Amino acid sequence: MHENQFQNLSRKINDRSARVGVIGLGYVGLPLALEFAKSGYDVYGIDLNEDKISQLKQFNSYISDVHKEELVRFVGKNFYPTTEYSYIQELDCISICVPTPLTKSQEPDMSFILSALEQIKKYVHPGILITLESTTYPGTTEEIIQAELENEGYYAGENYFLCFSPERVDPGNKKFNTKNTPKVIGGVTKQCTNIGTMLYEQIIDRMVPVSSPKVAEMSKLLENTFRSVNIAFINEMAMLCDKLGIDVWETIEAASTKPFGYMPFTPGPGIGGHCIPLDPMYLAWKAKGENFYSRYIDLAQEINKSMPNYVIGKVAEALNAHTKPINGSKVLILGMAYKPNINDLRESPGLEIYELLKKKGAKVFYHDPHAQSFLDNNNEKVNSIDYDSESLLSFDAVIMVTNHSFYNLTEVFNESKIIIDTRNAFKDFSDEKIYKIGDTLNNNSEIVFS
Ligand SMILES: NC(=O)c1ccc[n+]([C@@H]2O[C@H](COP(=O)([O-])OP(=O)(O)OC[C@H]3O[C@@H](n4cnc5c(N)ncnc54)[C@H](O)[C@@H]3O)[C@@H](O)[C@H]2O)c1
Repeated sequence: MHENQFQNLSRKINDRSARVGVIGLGYVGLPLALEFAKSGYDVYGIDLNEDKISQLKQFNSYISDVHKEELVRFVGKNFYPTTEYSYIQELDCISICVPTPLTKSQEPDMSFILSALEQIKKYVHPGILITLESTTYPGTTEEIIQAELENEGYYAGENYFLCFSPERVDPGNKKFNTKNTPKVIGGVTKQCTNIGTMLYEQIIDRMVPVSSPKVAEMSKLLENTFRSVNIAFINEMAMLCDKLGIDVWETIEAASTKPFGYMPFTPGPGIGGHCIPLDPMYLAWKAKGENFYSRYIDLAQEINKSMPNYVIGKVAEALNAHTKPINGSKVLILGMAYKPNINDLRESPGLEIYELLKKKGAKVFYHDPHAQSFLDNNNEKVNSIDYDSESLLSFDAVIMVTNHSFYNLTEVFNESKIIIDTRNAFKDFSDEKIYKIGDTLNNNSEIVFS
């Protein structure tokens, strides 16, 4: 690398004259772009979704953690949302935050990274810093980005800089955000790592440089596979406690008093979001290519995916105790997003619980203060309904799938006939009408693996 290219970019990063681009303005990219804008950089946010760009230009946020006031402060001042890739010609650094979903056959879908790369190739220029943030299998940065750009005469560490730096943002987390969550980064060369670290240090409290992009890629998958496996373990314990007639929630509380060697995880209706259900499958796919089968990943996936069925078993049991079948019963799901206080419906277990109940003939409704509608399996729009004390009584069962803090638990408790609680939200209410997962009361639910 020409020393002057390194010096030049360092100077621009330090004096805030570097122009930064963020590609993909979703849950990850939008908060990141705003952090760069907050710290004084000119930021170009490139997203192909015209609706999102037009929303941003009207200062409307589509991400719960991003507030209108922030958009009013920066959009058009030093944050420019656009669908135009050609701005890259004038940018010094770009961070790629496009989706990395799975294909129907549960394999990594690289199409978003590849399509972003096609555009980047047109406008890449010497001295630019490219950082991939999308979660992906170890090797992606070098095998795809580095290799593709070499075909264009761009050599990482020689005439441009290339890093991988996984995003750890936890939507809805009030304590940890983009800025105060330590961030791992690994460049193709030492100098790439150094310049990447220098850029992100301007907006992130603590950077964690590692020796290669592969280590950075793997660290993200390790973190999320760790969560998937531990969630599966505690979900299995919940189902076991049901069988043994023990309250898993009280058990977890007791175990959590151990000040070392134990880390509490809680059971739930299943896993959701763009990370935990998907990321381990990226690793499993890469492992299979090496003839290595990760049994932990597969087993965790199987258990976590069985949880909606287990919840249905609880619903059936609860209704049965009141001499009602699921078929024909009127059921209300409270909370459809995959976790509390956010609007993200991706992979949410609530969606599957909804479909399973419908398949069994229930009349299913849902309420979510953050997610106003979703498309069901028939591609039909389902709207969140309003409810009040009176209408709650008209439901044969209410299922607490996601315990948004919006919910007035006393009202729900007082006015519902039966409550199936998948989150232990009603732990302070003791009554025979509450059917908790992982609890002893009124329990005969069958564990059904999907
Ligand atoms: N959501 C999370 O909590 C989270 C946390 C850590 C890491 N990640 C990872 O970050 C990446 C992005 O996730 P997300 O949740 O922000 O996704 P998202 O779907 O919310 O946002 C991605 C954005 O990229 C845009 N996009 C798609 N293709 C594009 C292209 N070719 N050019 C420009 N824009 C394009 C989409 O329109 C969308 O706005 C994924 O790899 C994900 O695994 C997500």
